[in-house]
Amino acid sequence: MAATSRVDSQGKAPSSAPMPRILSGIQPSGQLHLGNWAGAVRQWVELQETQESFIFVASYHALTTVKKPEELRHAVRQIAVDLVALGIDPARTCLYAQQDVPEVTELAWLLSCVCPMSLADKGVSFKDKTAKGFEANLGLYTYPILQAADILGPDSDIVPVGKDQIQHIEIARDLAGKFNALYGEVFKLPAWRLHPESDVLPGIDGQKMSKSYGNTIDPFQDEKPLRKRIMSIVSDSTPVDQPKDPDSDATFRIFRAVAGKADPRTIELERKYREPPAGGFGYGHAKQALFEMLLERFAAARTRRAQLMADPAEIDRILAQGAQRARVLVRATVDRARRACGLA
Ligand code: ADP
Ligand code: TRP
Repeated sequence: MAATSRVDSQGKAPSSAPMPRILSGIQPSGQLHLGNWAGAVRQWVELQETQESFIFVASYHALTTVKKPEELRHAVRQIAVDLVALGIDPARTCLYAQQDVPEVTELAWLLSCVCPMSLADKGVSFKDKTAKGFEANLGLYTYPILQAADILGPDSDIVPVGKDQIQHIEIARDLAGKFNALYGEVFKLPAWRLHPESDVLPGIDGQKMSKSYGNTIDPFQDEKPLRKRIMSIVSDSTPVDQPKDPDSDATFRIFRAVAGKADPRTIELERKYREPPAGGFGYGHAKQALFEMLLERFAAARTRRAQLMADPAEIDRILAQGAQRARVLVRATVDRARRACGLA
């Protein structure tokens, strides 16, 4: 399926169609990082301008791997604060914590009863997580079924995510299709969506940036440690006066993903990689440019985050309001599904 099969490249529906509903989530399993922002969060911020939006903190999902209650409690609130700081506007987006919409777990059960073992077996996240040393619990194994419930519960049309989540959206479509085939048209089939400039963002070691690899860059980190972190990004040993390949360099790829391909600063940086100016251009210069660009790009978000952190009641109020709205929608879907399958 094409990333934009039901929407154009800006995520807008054809004018004759009703306004699509977008839904996505992020796990509170660690500090939000630039990869999350580039692959997922920035699309959510852009799309909320024109779409009806639902974004949630996937706390039941995080419970599959996070076993410290205080850590989980803190992370749910912290991710919500970070999302608002990065531009998720509670006046436009229904922002909630998954645990405040417990109806999704009921829906997950109904869906699990039409999920063949062979489909659950295909889930790459279970294999990935257990390979990384996480306990092989049943929640981790059935994770994609809960994710399908998250998606189908609010009748979402589009699920904007990073590339690694495509399989989960496909599983949600499969489960919706199976349930509909058995019981009639209960669920809408959602489409996934990638950011038009989507790339898997590398971390400081050049691998995919991920919380579980310890290679992330935190856009909210204090300036000094942030600069140190950026200076530690891997690079090869090409001398300053020699041309360098920007596409294989993590510093450049991060710069391009954040500033944008068409940004004059990206174009200028690319030129310096390919044709170093007199006096040379080394990776240290590129890293300094990345550091400065990040500070500028996230200046407003950093200020907003500090304000939100000074007033914890505000984020609790936002999450409570969001959950109230989401629950009504999910309850209606669960009731429809119950009636269809004979549980009325
Ligand atoms: P992590 O791998 O750090 O645990 P998550 O699984 O919580 O990240 O991902 C949350 C969202 O961010 C998903 O939509 C995912 O596709 C996106 N994402 C995560 N890492 C990256 C990356 N390195 N590049 C692009 N998108 C990413
Ligand atoms: N599995 C997603 C991740 O790790 C988080 C998630 C849970 C999600 N439920 C979702 C994403 C529903 C989109 C839609 O990133």
